[in-house]
Formats: sequence, structure tokens, C-alpha cells
Amino acid sequence: MLILAIETSCDETAAAVVADGREIRSSVVSSQIAIHAEYGGVVPEIASRKHLEMIVPVISQALREADATFADIEGIAVTRGPGLSGALLVGLSTAKAIACARKIPFVGVHHIEGHLFASFLERPVEFPFLGLVVSGGHTHIYLVQDFGHYRTLGRTVDDAAGEAFDKSAKIMGLEYPGGARIDALAQEGDPRAVRLPRPMLHDGSLNFSFSGLKTAVLNHVAGRRLEITGREAADLCASFQEAVCDVLAAKTGAALRQSGIGRLVVAGGVACNSGLRRRMQALASELGIELHIPAPALCGDNAAMHAVPGNHYLEKGLVSPATLDVITTWEMDRIGESLQ
Ligand code: KG4
Ligand code: ZN
Repeated sequence: MLILAIETSCDETAAAVVADGREIRSSVVSSQIAIHAEYGGVVPEIASRKHLEMIVPVISQALREADATFADIEGIAVTRGPGLSGALLVGLSTAKAIACARKIPFVGVHHIEGHLFASFLERPVEFPFLGLVVSGGHTHIYLVQDFGHYRTLGRTVDDAAGEAFDKSAKIMGLEYPGGARIDALAQEGDPRAVRLPRPMLHDGSLNFSFSGLKTAVLNHVAGRRLEITGREAADLCASFQEAVCDVLAAKTGAALRQSGIGRLVVAGGVACNSGLRRRMQALASELGIELHIPAPALCGDNAAMHAVPGNHYLEKGLVSPATLDVITTWEMDRIGESLQ
């Protein structure tokens, strides 16, 4: 089945053409980051308007690069939520319009479901597996039993890991979104230079908390009236990244041990982080488990990843109705019900 996938949940307008939920024929991502950077974060109204401007050119480019036309497309997978409502509405309305005009089925998928299955575009993963999703809005450990069957084993009780990276970067005077900047600066720093907390490390749960870590960075910067440059900036970035990786690795390791499951998928924008990738590889060798972290282009927001669950649902005849609405807050554990 040749699927057109569409993603507009936040600040990336993306479209992809994927064959059989496996083979990427094209994947186009138009980022709005430069526009939102001016405001230090995503401005929902601007995001919606930018999606409206870019959605048709991005889809046209995806078709062109795949050497396909609308006549070749057999189904559509589109993010239904969670995300910004105005942003999601642009993608969903466009998907409905194409589906209606071409008389082809479409299915609304969960944004995080896409992240979890991005790895499948490189090589399939056997069920069940554990999924660590680390993005701007999520830090969750899921037990993935099958398509549509997810159980949350642990989650952040406050900020997501990506949010902690971005807010800490802002405190250090780095441009939004600062995750990748911290990663780059950390390369030259000493991860033991600044003592930072490891929130909830020993609380016995699989949950996370990152807001205290961000406050510790704020106190460190304020206390020293630090000009964040050179060595000190690199040390603070390396120490911050080490603290985040320590907690993510400890909790993921505990989830793997408790569940006895030997396969781990790591996904979401923070999975681009070089320190986290190294740490997860070390954890996988220590526990002797199979690790899947997709290439960075498939970790951050893209549309191709949605074609994996999309292809599965459409082949099973799980088609969304023309009346489908977006969902801004949507728990993965409840997906099964909404697909009936
Ligand atoms: O998955 P994603 O692209 O969008 C959401 O669904 O949220 O994740 C975006 C997040 C941002 O917080 C960004 O700073 C973070 O991923 N990120 C990184 C890196 N690259 C992107 N965080 C740490 N290190 C990186 N190299
Ligand atoms: Zn995402």
C-alpha cells in the first residue's frame, strides 16, 4: 500500500510517501524553528498559519520526490493528536480533503505512536518491546504489545526531557530550541564539573521529574552571575546532559529488568542526543538486549513515521470517519478504544 503521511502537530510541517509501512519513498520536513526562536518558544497562532501556508507545497514536494502523483496514493495517515489544536486541524483537514477527492481511506494516528514505530522504517522490531519516548512534550516508558496496544510503565510527573533541555538552554542564554546546542557544547565539557540533582532516581517508581534539574541550573547560573561562555558553559552543559542521561538510563534499565523484555526502542527528538545514544548503547550491552534508535532524521518530528501504524490500521480496515476531530490530550493507553 502506498501511503501519504502528514504531520502538523507542532512546529514542523511534514509529508512523506511510504510503501507498505516500510520503504520511505520521500520524506519532507519544513521546520518553523527559526520563526518561533524569536519568541523563545512555539507560538500556536503563528504555527497554525505557517502550516496553512506550507502544507500544500510540502505535500507536492513529497509526491514529486517520490515520483508519484495523487493517483498513486492508496491511503493517508495523519497525526490526530496530541498537539496544538490549530496546528493539528490543518493536517487533518488536508488529509480529509485529499481522501474525499480521491475516494481513498485515511486514518488518524497518535503522534507518539509514530515516534515509537519510526525504527520500523530501518528494521522491524518484534513485539513485545519497551519504548522510551523522549521528546519536547513526552518522557514516557511504554510497554508495546502490538499496534494499538500500549501500556504506560513510567512517565514524567512535570517537565519532559526535551522541555528541560530547552528551558535550561534558555537559562544559559542559548537560542530556542536549545537541546541540540547543549549537546554540541557538552562535547567539550566535564560531566562531573557541576553537581546537579538526579530527581526521583531512587524512588522505586519508573517515573521521571525534570523540573528540579532545571531549577538547579537556574540557581547555578544566578549564583555565579555566570557569563555562559567557554569552559564554564561547556562544563554546565556536560553536567546537565549527564544528569538527564543518568536518570533516563536508570529508569529504562529498571523497566527492562522488571519486565524481562529484551528489546528497547528509543525515540523522539531527544533521542538525537549523542550522550543519550551512547548511554543507551552501554545499557543495551550491559543487559544483553536488542536496541533500536533510529537515525536522527527519524527521531525528530517527521511524517514518514506515521505511515508505519497508518499502514497497519488501513490494511486491517480501520479507517477514520469523515467526522474525525483532533485530540489535543490523548493517552496512549486509550488508543484501542478510539480505533474501534
Ligand atoms: O520529537 P520532537 O522533534 O518534537 C516533539 O514531539 O516534541 O522533539 C523536540 C525536542 C526539543 O525539545 C529539542 O530540543 C530536543 O527534542 N532535541 C534534543 C536534541 N535534538 C533535539 N535534545 C537534546 N539533544 C539533542 N541533540
Ligand atoms: Zn514529536
